[in-house]
Amino acid sequence: MTLVAASVGDGAAGGCRHLAIIMDGNGRWAKAKRLPRIAGHREGVEAVRRVVEAAPGLGLEMLTLYAFSSENWKRPADEVSDLMGLLHHYVKNEIDTLHKNGVRLDFIGDWQALKPDLVRLLAAARDRTSANTGLRLIMALNYGGQGEIVRAARALATDAAAGLIVPDDITAEMLEARLDTAGLPPPDAVLRTSGELRLSNFLLWQTAYAEFLVTETLWPDFDGPALATALDEFSRRERRFGGR
Ligand code: IPE
Ligand code: IPE
Ligand code: MG
Repeated sequence: MTLVAASVGDGAAGGCRHLAIIMDGNGRWAKAKRLPRIAGHREGVEAVRRVVEAAPGLGLEMLTLYAFSSENWKRPADEVSDLMGLLHHYVKNEIDTLHKNGVRLDFIGDWQALKPDLVRLLAAARDRTSANTGLRLIMALNYGGQGEIVRAARALATDAAAGLIVPDDITAEMLEARLDTAGLPPPDAVLRTSGELRLSNFLLWQTAYAEFLVTETLWPDFDGPALATALDEFSRRERRFGGR
């Protein structure tokens, strides 16, 4: 593996400020090792730790991690409960370190619909880190892009019904301001591990001009050097945004 003067040297991740990651392949990692799926999810948490630690040194300012989709409720109840337990564990155990490192933690998706004790923990972690100026770490929890757009449309409709806005005047910016990601720049790139070539309902609106980065590496094997390699690939892309 060549490691990557561009992402080390220019301090700006080859221009990537905001990376969104579809952390996929925990189950296959476990299966390949004849372990239960939870073992893959546990190692997945270690990969989160490594990537969050490496991200600022590679010039990333924002990192959005797809941790649980609104479709992941279809999984067996014991796997869902394992995933929620690991999330609880991660935030509880990691919050001091994150705070010390200046990370600002935030959430997108319908995370307030999770179990009350988890919601309390997440809200406290968000509030405690809200003034931090380091890496912005955004975890997508109970997140689905279609649901997010529906909620934004509903908010616009509510404002229109109340006479606060006029339907014909609705703009992309007004819809954007009602998405969970309001105020955040869109991701420059979406990275998916484990080789799948799909968005799986992640950031449908926000990825309009994102670069796709796909690696065969399974998420539990992902680490700082793998992140540097991905950002190096990003730095060699030519972005056009419809221009020429
Ligand atoms: C990603 O790994 C973790 C979540 C979706 C929560 P998977 O559990 O989807 O792993 P695979 O795709 O079955 O390998
Ligand atoms: C996407 O992965 C969701 C997360 C990484 C949280 P999935 O494994 O759920 O996606 P599909 O089902 O393969 O499309
Ligand atoms: Mg998967």
